[in-house]
Amino acid sequence: MTDDTKTAASGMWGGRFTAGPSEIMTAINASVDVDQRLFEQDIAGSLAHAAMLSACGVISSDDEAQIRSGLEAIREDIRAGRFTWDPALEDVHMNIEAALRERIGAAAGRLHTARSRNDQVATDFRLWLREAIDGAMEGLTAYQRALVAQAENHADTVMPGFTHLQTAQPVSLAHHLLCWVEAAERDKQRFADCRKRLNESPLGAAALAGTAFPIDRDRTAKALGFDRPMANSLDAVSSRDFALEALSCAAITAVNLSRFAEEIVLWTSRRFGFATLTDAFSTGSSIMPQKRNPDAAELVRAKPGRIAGALQGLILVCKGLPLAYSKDLQEDKALVFTAFDDLALAVSAMAGMAADLSFDAETMELAAGEAYSDATDLADWCVRELNMPFRDAHHVAGSAVKAAEAKGLPLKDLPLADYQAIEPRIDARVFDVLSARASMESRVSYGGTAPVRVREQLAAWKTRLNA
Ligand code: ARG
Repeated sequence: MTDDTKTAASGMWGGRFTAGPSEIMTAINASVDVDQRLFEQDIAGSLAHAAMLSACGVISSDDEAQIRSGLEAIREDIRAGRFTWDPALEDVHMNIEAALRERIGAAAGRLHTARSRNDQVATDFRLWLREAIDGAMEGLTAYQRALVAQAENHADTVMPGFTHLQTAQPVSLAHHLLCWVEAAERDKQRFADCRKRLNESPLGAAALAGTAFPIDRDRTAKALGFDRPMANSLDAVSSRDFALEALSCAAITAVNLSRFAEEIVLWTSRRFGFATLTDAFSTGSSIMPQKRNPDAAELVRAKPGRIAGALQGLILVCKGLPLAYSKDLQEDKALVFTAFDDLALAVSAMAGMAADLSFDAETMELAAGEAYSDATDLADWCVRELNMPFRDAHHVAGSAVKAAEAKGLPLKDLPLADYQAIEPRIDARVFDVLSARASMESRVSYGGTAPVRVREQLAAWKTRLNA
């Protein structure tokens, strides 16, 4: 162990200590590799805190001015990559405070009046997550815009709709794409809701019990853009449910993205042949020259493993922790940082692919007409034209499918005589409903796939996303 290691932390709490920590203690304790990402938030918090201390007469305005210019200079150094982080100083907070002391001397020691790293880190972390959430929401909006732009060309494109991944009923491709726009909207709303709850200021809760100094927590809360100071000092330093909630939102978003990612994998496969990605979103194989792989889609499909994993990780870190702060909570940041990095990448990749996809409308329409996807339309026709109860009509249509299958024909080519053998009242008008396109166009109920309804939704989304 170097002398530096021995003395580094003693500048902060040296009074009680005679020897420095062991190397392994420093190694397990240091978080600066991870939490240096909080430097902007940490300095913003310190600036607000110092300004408040001065306004409340706790420190002199001269000390405040020194602290301010010192912190601003340190911020410039960090931004420019001129700052050396020292693991012996544990974390971002003590690295910055030590640098401030080096720069401005004794006045630096007054900054930590009426606060603790416990309220400091909780404040920094909330500020960081607030921005990360805003970023995620912006990314999701870009993704929605890409989906809507793509959908605009495809209100009339017929594709098979699936249930159980079996061909079910024809749908409009735009309708399918707008489904993912809806999901992304809920993801954004979840984040917005989470943001409201996390936007309260822990600053001034100090170590756990508040402080005897005449501070103004409303003032720091306001300066940092929080809605209000947190009302309970124990809660302020010890709660991380805001991070759990943000990770839950991220995990649900990742799951939604992974579902469309999987569809991209399927659609771009030779077996489906519905869509292609350009070279911008494809990769090759190191051995098979013909390959075009949708790696980005596969990686988005995998992201819930990491993001929901981070949620699970932090849930376990928090479980059973007594009040108030415990060092366990230091493990929160790495999980949240990587989860939100992963999410940002996944959202951007999905926006990129949503714009990049080009669709083979002919192949899709052919596929939409296969596998008796118009059988429901036949049953509905019997209900409408022959006044049959739906259950009976279902039976008639099922028999027709059986007969057509036996002859290797689609329903539209099954002779009328065969229909009449099943149900004598069926007449030639039935053939009008037996096509994938007619089927799609007929579903005009609100929220249905008929292009008239889909165009209404497209218009509504365009207005909403441009607002
Ligand atoms: N690096 C610490 C964390 O991330 C800061 C708070 C430390 N507090 C303490 N009492 N040791 O949680």
